[in-house]
Amino acid sequence: MAEKWTPDSWRSKPILQVPEYPDEKALADVEERLSTYPPLVFAGEARDLKRQLADVAAGKGFLLQGGDCAESFAEHHPDHIRDFFRVFLQMAVVLTYAASQPVVKVGRIAGQFAKPRSSNTETKDGVELPSYRGDIINDIAFSSEGRIPDPNRLSMAYRQSAATLNLLRAFAQGGFANLDQVHQWMVGFISDSPQGHRYKELADRITEALAFMRACGIDSTSVPQLRSTDFFTSHEALLLGYEESLTRVDSTSGDWYATSGHMLWIGDRTRQPDHAHVEFFRGIKNPIGLKCGPSMTPEGLIELIDILNPDNEPGRLTLICRFGSDKVFDHLPQLVRAVEREGKSVIWSCDPMHGNTISAGGYKTRPFERILKEVESFFAVHRAEGTHAGGIHVEMTGRNVTECTGGAHALTADQLGDRYHTHCDPRLNADQALELAFLIAENLKTEREGRHDDPIAVNG
Ligand code: TRP
Ligand code: MN
Repeated sequence: MAEKWTPDSWRSKPILQVPEYPDEKALADVEERLSTYPPLVFAGEARDLKRQLADVAAGKGFLLQGGDCAESFAEHHPDHIRDFFRVFLQMAVVLTYAASQPVVKVGRIAGQFAKPRSSNTETKDGVELPSYRGDIINDIAFSSEGRIPDPNRLSMAYRQSAATLNLLRAFAQGGFANLDQVHQWMVGFISDSPQGHRYKELADRITEALAFMRACGIDSTSVPQLRSTDFFTSHEALLLGYEESLTRVDSTSGDWYATSGHMLWIGDRTRQPDHAHVEFFRGIKNPIGLKCGPSMTPEGLIELIDILNPDNEPGRLTLICRFGSDKVFDHLPQLVRAVEREGKSVIWSCDPMHGNTISAGGYKTRPFERILKEVESFFAVHRAEGTHAGGIHVEMTGRNVTECTGGAHALTADQLGDRYHTHCDPRLNADQALELAFLIAENLKTEREGRHDDPIAVNG
């Protein structure tokens, strides 16, 4: 019999990656106030996402999850949100066409503020200060004042998330996500990209498909689905006090939901089965993610699945795999086999970012070739095992940053300093993100051709 769960039962468990607040009373006051604020998302939406993810788990859809490594207060600007969403939607169109399946769209946004750190302190020029843990906790500026965890930042993160989510909802439903328009942006991208010829054929086929549909009377005026889309939010639920304040009982089902975002995930560093984060996650009904790095064993994974999804509910659990481009074959097959053997329903998603960080020219970067290779290997393993490569999880921005090397514009290590803006890890820029989508499209097409129920496959 599992122990009783409450939104604060995590507090009696060991916990990693917690900031030390100098004034605990001040923190408790902010948490108390937050618990009276409106939820950011509605439980019914989280259930809807879970239903869509259940289709992905069954091999009938693909999960696209992406956004900033860390959102920041300083860069909260409508143009950034718009530019991110524009690229994200373009990726979604490419993937939807290639897979001939719905793409479930989940942003790493409107709540992605807290960062786990490998060290509690950071040393610069002989000065040692507490590490930066994300804008919801302390300041990125290297000053002793700024690095003190400040409870008021929880309210600021909440308000920023509300404003971001509000704009995204407007974009998703208010015309910005119109399929014709998103496709036109992509056509523009292709004519500007040095590698554009590689993507032109696919884009032309989408143009033709849309023209054919239009000729049949199916367009964004006659069919509302073509002018809007469902968009969901997600983040790593690291700061459990904040999450607890926003965890509410859903009046329609009587269940507990985290209302800080539709989907939350557990980081690779905080997934100990008897610790606080797993305890918190087991009680919320949202769809959740679990990051799986090289230290995840098949037994450890099954143990966590039993705790986090005891009823084996499809759509509940997404395994976000991040091994490093040359380690996928060493780790992923055994995890896939264990999950298959135990008959567990999961979504396999690939995070090709976090296992591929290196340092070059004084910057933390990620070579685009390694990112591509991790994705390729992920698809290869699933082809070999006969399982569904269900999703991708990327750190990206709509801005033209220089944080990851490589890509069609062949960004070099020397150029990293030009526009290196990230508050944490290096992100794909707009061009690199779209290029990645085209590469995934090729893999999805191969998977689609292997599906025997697919009429397109039969006709070649
Ligand atoms: N509503 C559909 C979907 O979300 C089609 C669609 C409309 C779409 N606008 C989009 C798909 C933008 C991708 C991107 O799948
Ligand atoms: Mn990151």
